[in-house]
Amino acid sequence: MKRAEPFAKAEKPPARAMPLPSTSPSENDDDQILNLSLRPKRFDEFVGQGQVVENLRVAIQAAKRREEALEHLLLAGPPGLGKTSIAHIVAHEMGAKITATSGPAIGRAGDLIGILTNLEQHDILFIDEIHRLSKVVEEFLYPAMENFEIDFVIDKGPYAKTIKFHLKRFTLIGATTRSGLLSNPMRSRFGMVSHLEFYTPEELVQVLHRSAKILGMSLDPETARAIAERSRGTPRIANRLLRRVRDYAQVKVDGKISKEVAHAALAAQGVDSFGLDGLDRKVLRTIIEFYGGGPVGIEALAAALNEEPDTIVDVVEPYLLSAGLLKRTARGRKATRLAYQHFAGLKERDLELFAASA
Ligand SMILES: Nc1ncnc2c1ncn2[C@@H]1O[C@H](COP(=O)(O)OP(=O)(O)O)[C@@H](O)[C@H]1O
Ligand SMILES: [Mg+2]
Repeated sequence: MKRAEPFAKAEKPPARAMPLPSTSPSENDDDQILNLSLRPKRFDEFVGQGQVVENLRVAIQAAKRREEALEHLLLAGPPGLGKTSIAHIVAHEMGAKITATSGPAIGRAGDLIGILTNLEQHDILFIDEIHRLSKVVEEFLYPAMENFEIDFVIDKGPYAKTIKFHLKRFTLIGATTRSGLLSNPMRSRFGMVSHLEFYTPEELVQVLHRSAKILGMSLDPETARAIAERSRGTPRIANRLLRRVRDYAQVKVDGKISKEVAHAALAAQGVDSFGLDGLDRKVLRTIIEFYGGGPVGIEALAAALNEEPDTIVDVVEPYLLSAGLLKRTARGRKATRLAYQHFAGLKERDLELFAASA
């Protein structure tokens, strides 16, 4: 089969053509503060994820009627889709206190004991990146989740004694970008598992209008649509792009936001008309130009890109897969025909805008 080859075979992976836009999960301080103010606090403010929200509403109501703690909940999905927001909303709707930590932050079992023994009846413990808990800590968590007790050993050698400690009935909410990495015993201890999906452009338009209101911006439907379509199905990215459009408009056109201004501002962020950012394109181009379209293993791809395999698997791939630009096969990742077409068809205006903002 003959394929379009938009690029000559490169000797080495393409160098960074333009600075990578800030669509990575980390954000600067200003953005973090703004992000907090944009975070939905109740289900009424939370857009989309209909089935997940509906199931949680039912579970919360039932638990409240029975005056019980909510069952343990696992939230899975790519970064920026609302896992942390949901954890806080659940706590709010349950009228419960929430203690937030993360897998990597709990280094030793002792850290976890401290947290668990401080929980009150029906409190919520939120563990972000729960797939990154160490094995030892994970095994400590099992009896805590199942029977609300922990065993700990005091002293050493012949004087060692095991003490059973009873915990209050709490709810664990775990969040993970990679439910596949969770061990089976861990997964099976969650009474509810919710997978978050990418948002439709229509849903992101709603997110953007809500955010614009909070930020005191006026946003017309066309501009909202233009941003929504280029946000990789992700509310966090939509909000970030909205702020970048606002900055751009303030500096370049006296604050007047329009569809044209949005296009120019997004191009300056390296976002193309398909909504791909610099890292997305770098991954696809490396597969196409350096590996002849694939298949290529994730480790080799990451090495060629000088990126962490985790970043590619957690941040880049899910969207490229869902957009039909990338395929996962037993032998590795492959670029699809659509990916070739994407590069062949990158609108001329994209290229002009990128050149102008380089
Ligand atoms: N369903 C939603 N409705 C409105 N805003 C959302 C929604 N989901 C996420 N957001 C926005 O995106 C930001 C990132 O969401 P967050 O819950 O931190 O995602 P995750 O924990 O999955 O990475 C939030 O601060 C909020 O501004
Ligand atoms: Mg989060």
